[in-house]
Amino acid sequence: MEGRILHLNGYNSKKRIPKTICSFVNHSTIIKMPVQKKKEVKKVTTNVLHEMKVSGEKISMLTAYDYTMAKIVDHAGIDVILVGDSASNVMAGHETTLPITLDQMIYHASSVVRAVDRALIVVDLPFGSYQGNSKEALNSAIKIMKESGAHAVKLEGGREIKESIERILTAGIPVMGHLGLTPQSIYKFGTYNVRAKEEDEALRLLEDAKILEKAGCFALVLEKIPAKLAEKVAKEIAIPVIGIGAGGGVDGQVLVFHDMVGLNNEFNPRFLRRYLNLFEEITGAVGNYIKDVKSKDFPNANEQY
Ligand code: KIV
Repeated sequence: MEGRILHLNGYNSKKRIPKTICSFVNHSTIIKMPVQKKKEVKKVTTNVLHEMKVSGEKISMLTAYDYTMAKIVDHAGIDVILVGDSASNVMAGHETTLPITLDQMIYHASSVVRAVDRALIVVDLPFGSYQGNSKEALNSAIKIMKESGAHAVKLEGGREIKESIERILTAGIPVMGHLGLTPQSIYKFGTYNVRAKEEDEALRLLEDAKILEKAGCFALVLEKIPAKLAEKVAKEIAIPVIGIGAGGGVDGQVLVFHDMVGLNNEFNPRFLRRYLNLFEEITGAVGNYIKDVKSKDFPNANEQY
């Protein structure tokens, strides 16, 4: 049997020990505590994602922004967790992703990192933390990696951020790209409509995808573009392409966790598949709790000391 030795005097005697053992030890006793062997997990790395693309296995990716949700999502077996700047919308209630700061992203990312055993954790560089110049981009990426313990960063944009991507990569930080609908540029585009429907924008997106691949991105997110174009991009580049509202011809899918479990019932784009209706479920549960408190049904005799 595996055992962890506890010295039951001084500092270690403060450790919590099951009552059954405590009852027959004195302060200088050494006991062997049974320890559950942690299951070996094969961690998802950027290489694993590449192998998945080659073998044709689809990549699953979801957002998470806190410890509890990340624990559930990782436990369920997700391949990639994105600590998205969509936290600005779903966690903080902002209208856009622009207000979230680097320190706020680090807070979310470090909560997620503490929960996860298996998934690859990618963190969005927030608006304003990388667009200035490549040195600023590198500093922001290093700060995120150092202070959160995440595994990679994601940046929105094409050729205009090539130099920043290359510079971040010189520090050994893996970079995921993001093209199509790029929410940090919402005020430039003016709407959240489907992107790259016209031929010139589609051609530019394909060129940008190739530029990001050549710059060294390990994967690419394509958001809200025609399925045919997304499939073409996935065929023409060797890195995994993960889509959101980009059809089934890509190498994987990503959704915002809160949308996918129906915590948010106000966002209903065509690409969203809802697996639960937690808004309704939780509203019902809270309603029942209120009713039980008001009627003095809670707590009952078994729910008190
Ligand atoms: O921030 C986010 O959640 C994202 C996904 C929509 C890809 O970037």
